[in-house]
Amino acid sequence: MCGIVGFVGTRNAAPILLEGLKRLEYRGYDSAGIAVDHRGVISISKVSGRIEKLCELTDGGKTMPGFAGIAHTRWATHGAPTDVNAHPHMSCDGRFSVVHNGIIENYMELRDELMGNGYLFRSQTDTEVIVHLIEMYYDGNFKAAVMKATSRLEGSYALGVLCSDEPGKIIAVKEASPLILGIGIGENFFASDVTALVAYTRNVLYLNDGELAELTPENITVYDCTGTPVPKTASRVTWDIEAAEKGGYEHFMLKEIMEQPRAVKAALTPRIQENRICLDEFRMTPGELRGIRKIVITACGSAYYAGCAGKYAIEKLCHIPVDVQLASELRYSEPQIDSSTLLIVLSQSGETADTIAAMKECQSLGAKVLAIVNVVGSTIAKLADYTLYMWAGPEIAVATTKGYTTQLSILYLFAVYAAEALGLLSEKEYQRLIGELQALPQKIQQVFDMNGILPRLASKYNTARSIFYIGRNTDYAAALEGALKMKEISYLHAEAYAAGELKHGTIALIDEGQPVVALCCNDRIAEKTMNNILEVKARGAQVLALAVKGNRTVLTQADDVIYIPGTDSLFQTVVEIIPLQLLAYYVAKENGCDIDKPKNLAKAVTVE
Ligand code: F6R
Repeated sequence: MCGIVGFVGTRNAAPILLEGLKRLEYRGYDSAGIAVDHRGVISISKVSGRIEKLCELTDGGKTMPGFAGIAHTRWATHGAPTDVNAHPHMSCDGRFSVVHNGIIENYMELRDELMGNGYLFRSQTDTEVIVHLIEMYYDGNFKAAVMKATSRLEGSYALGVLCSDEPGKIIAVKEASPLILGIGIGENFFASDVTALVAYTRNVLYLNDGELAELTPENITVYDCTGTPVPKTASRVTWDIEAAEKGGYEHFMLKEIMEQPRAVKAALTPRIQENRICLDEFRMTPGELRGIRKIVITACGSAYYAGCAGKYAIEKLCHIPVDVQLASELRYSEPQIDSSTLLIVLSQSGETADTIAAMKECQSLGAKVLAIVNVVGSTIAKLADYTLYMWAGPEIAVATTKGYTTQLSILYLFAVYAAEALGLLSEKEYQRLIGELQALPQKIQQVFDMNGILPRLASKYNTARSIFYIGRNTDYAAALEGALKMKEISYLHAEAYAAGELKHGTIALIDEGQPVVALCCNDRIAEKTMNNILEVKARGAQVLALAVKGNRTVLTQADDVIYIPGTDSLFQTVVEIIPLQLLAYYVAKENGCDIDKPKNLAKAVTVE
C-alpha cells in the first residue's frame, strides 16, 4: 500500500517528511516524492526507486525550504513505477499539489471529463484526476474546492493537499483508506500509518470516513462531508514502532489475512462499472476470444493452487478446456501449445524464475499471455501481452494470503467476463454472478466475525504429527492451499487429498486420532465429502469440518465444525480459504514458529 505523510509547522518540512517516508519503507514502495510550499510557491521532487535517491536529490530536504509539505511512497497500481507517475501530483496552474493512498474507481470517466475541459494529464495515475478536479472547483476557497472534488470520487482515498494561496495550511481527507492526524506543539501532522508519526508525537486524532481536516501549525479542525465541524478527542498511541508497522497485529501474516476484504474489493470493484465487467487491460476482442481453443494456467506454489481453483469457474462458464500446470514442470515439458492457446500466468511478485521461464517457452510457441500479477512493472507484467494487476498492496509475510485471494478473485472475474463476451451467459445470470462477486469482500469479513473459535481449535490440533485435508472439486482446490499454508508456517506435515481418492490408498493412513480437515462447502458435492467423513470417522479420525452455514447434518458427523457464508459454488474457494489461513496461523503461533519468515523460504523465488 502507498504511504502518505504531511507536516505544517514552523520548522522546515522536507527533512521531517523524508524521515516520515523512511518509517513507511517497510510497507514496500517503488517510488517516492515530496511537495513543499515556500512562501506561496509549491516545489516538487519525486523519483522512482528508493527514498535515499530522494534524499540525495534534495540534499536531505535542504534544497526544499518551506514550513508545509506533503509526501508519498508509491506502490504502483495505475501506471508504471516512473518518476512521472510518482506522487505528489500538481494542478496545471501549479496552485495545488496532492498525495493519495487508495484507488479512484471512476477515474476514467473523470479523466475524460477533465480532458474535455482542457486539463492536461502528465501521468497515467488515477490520482491525477483529483488535483485537476480541485483546480476546476476552486473559486478562492481551498476547503470548498477539496470538498467538491472529493464528492465526485468513487473508491478509496486518503488525501493530503497543499494550496499555494494558503501556505500555512494542509488539508487531509479520508474515505476507506487509513489516515491519522498527529498533534504537535506549534506543528501538526497527518500520515497513513502511525509509524510515520511516533518519532514526533504520540497524540493523535482518528478521522472517520468522509471527514476532512484542516491543519495549521496551531490548530486542527475536522469537518464532516457537509462541512460541519466535528468535535474530536485526542488519543495517545502506546504502540512501539514494530507493533505500529504491523497495524497493531502480532504478525504481518495476520494483518494481511485481515486485509483481505479490502484487498479483494480493490481487485474487483474498480473493474465492475455500471453492472458490467470492464477488463480494459485485457484487449482481446470477442472474435479473438472465440478463437481460443485451450487455456493453460501456469504458476508456482499458492499461485498454482489459485489456478487449480479458478479452472472450475473458467471451464464451467466459458466452455474452454483449462489445463493447470506447475511452471517448474511446464518449462521442461513439450507442451501442446500454439497460437490458439491463451496462457494465464499467476504471480504475486511477478519475478518467480520458473514462472517466467514457462511463460517464455509458451510465448515462443505462439501463445498469447494474460498475466495476473501484484507488483507493477515486474518482469512478468512487462513480458505479458495483457496484465491484470491484483491491487492487493504489498505482501510482506512470506506466506501469501491476500495474494492468493486476489489472484483467485481476478480469475473469477475473468471467467464471468469471458463467458459473457462469448455469448454464453443470459443477462440475468451475468448479473447474478456479478452480484455474487461483489458480495465476496463482505462474506470474507463475515468469516472473521463467525470464527472466534479458531484459536481454540488450533490449540486442539497443534500437536498432531500430520493433518489430512480432504475435499472435492472447488473444495479440493481449497484443501491444496489450506494444507500448504499449514505446512509452510507451522512445519506440520499436511496433505491434501481429493476426497474420492481416499479409498484408493490413503485411507490406510487413517488411524485413531488422526486429524482430518474435511471441506464440505461446495453445495453441489458437499454431501459426497460428508460420506467420506463417515469413512474416516469409522477408522478413528478426528474430523474438523468446514461447511456453509445452515448445514446441520455435518454437526452430527464431525468433531468440530467451522461455518462460513455460502456463495456460488464456483466462487466458494475464496471464502473457505480464510479459516484455513487462520487455522494455520494459530497452529503456528501455538507452536512458537517464526510466522512471517518461515524457515528455508523466501518471498520471491527468483532462482530456479
Ligand atoms: C506460499 C507462497 C508461495 C508462492 C510461490 C509463487 O505461501 O507464497 O508458494 O505462491 O512462490 O510466488 P509468486 O506468486 O510471487 O510467483
